[in-house]
Amino acid sequence: MKYDFDEIIPRRGTKSIKWDNDNARDCLPLWVADMDFRVSRPILDALQKRVNHGLMGYAYKPEEYYESVINWYRRRHGWTIDREHILCTAGIIPTLSAIIQAMSKEGGQVAIHVPSYNCFFESPVNAHRILSRINLLNMDNHYEIDWQAMEEGLQAADMFILCNPHNPTGRVWTRDELQGIDRLCRRYGVFVVADEIHAPLAFPGIDYTPYATVAEGDNYCVCTSSTKAFNTAGLPISNIIVPNRDIRERLKEHIEMNRVGDVGPLALETLMAAYDESEDWLDQAREYIHDNYLYLCYWAEQYKSLVQPMRMEGTYLVWMKIADTGMDATTLTERLREEQKLMINAGKMYGDDRYVRINIACPRKIVEEALLRFGNFLDPLL
Ligand SMILES: Cc1ncc(COP(=O)(O)O)c(C=O)c1O
Repeated sequence: MKYDFDEIIPRRGTKSIKWDNDNARDCLPLWVADMDFRVSRPILDALQKRVNHGLMGYAYKPEEYYESVINWYRRRHGWTIDREHILCTAGIIPTLSAIIQAMSKEGGQVAIHVPSYNCFFESPVNAHRILSRINLLNMDNHYEIDWQAMEEGLQAADMFILCNPHNPTGRVWTRDELQGIDRLCRRYGVFVVADEIHAPLAFPGIDYTPYATVAEGDNYCVCTSSTKAFNTAGLPISNIIVPNRDIRERLKEHIEMNRVGDVGPLALETLMAAYDESEDWLDQAREYIHDNYLYLCYWAEQYKSLVQPMRMEGTYLVWMKIADTGMDATTLTERLREEQKLMINAGKMYGDDRYVRINIACPRKIVEEALLRFGNFLDPLL
């Protein structure tokens, strides 16, 4: 089926965080990470069928759920997952808290890359762990791993949270890079949590490598989900793949303690319809997002003394360096919001306030209008 990603679907008044948040109400919002695209036909059909049934009691996880996950990863990414290794939970971030409790000590170190998705700073600290911040290197607008920093940052860590593909830099880590991470984590006995929620969103032609297909030991878990890529984040569900039996039992206990193992019936229907029947939607969405990215890069050429988008390989979140504006990202984004009614994220919450993050999973006309407004703001600074 051919989908129309150009369609502008009004979202105001739908209780959308992105559009109806107090700060966003009169702005064009290209911030929080959900898409302005309608979900696939099979997802809508599955939800409608369920709603028409009219009962919304507690959901049981059927065998079909496990088959959907297993088939998806085998078919799309050549990763064979054992049925017994899958734990189904209600969202990666709530589960991350349970994983942190299970696999690190109070007062112990949790290592993360910087910049990082904001919850990777917050969840360990909320659980009274200490962050070991491993800076990534911006090499000519493409992020690379600083292996020296990696080695130092992992030495005393209990756990490393890997984000693959990486939010916010847009990197899809290569097999070599993942092997390097695996080698160091094994050397220092560090448990790896690989958050692969953005995996289906690698740009067309880019291969995402599942960490599990690289890791030599089994001191890790992989967190996956259909929600980010199929635009169903409001119906939380996640697949946590844990190959080691003892670790799995420990995680199960903490998932149980934190009550994050119960998943709603609509979320289950959504995930199965996404993995089983929505590949065409995803591939068209990836093409569309990639074209938006190329459009943004083309636009940015004329402002390159002021803003520089990273060379990305995936996700729909563009990480852009602010160069000679004389402003940090917090000031720039606040002024953009007030003066141009455009809302994008300042890099501060991701650990680097020299950058902004722009969500380009929206119709081209919205991207055009946003960049027009951004350009109006930048023109006097040229
Ligand atoms: C890297 C990463 N992990 C997890 C999440 C959210 O996961 P969930 O909605 O399953 O808690 C996001 C959302 O943007 C993300 O970027």
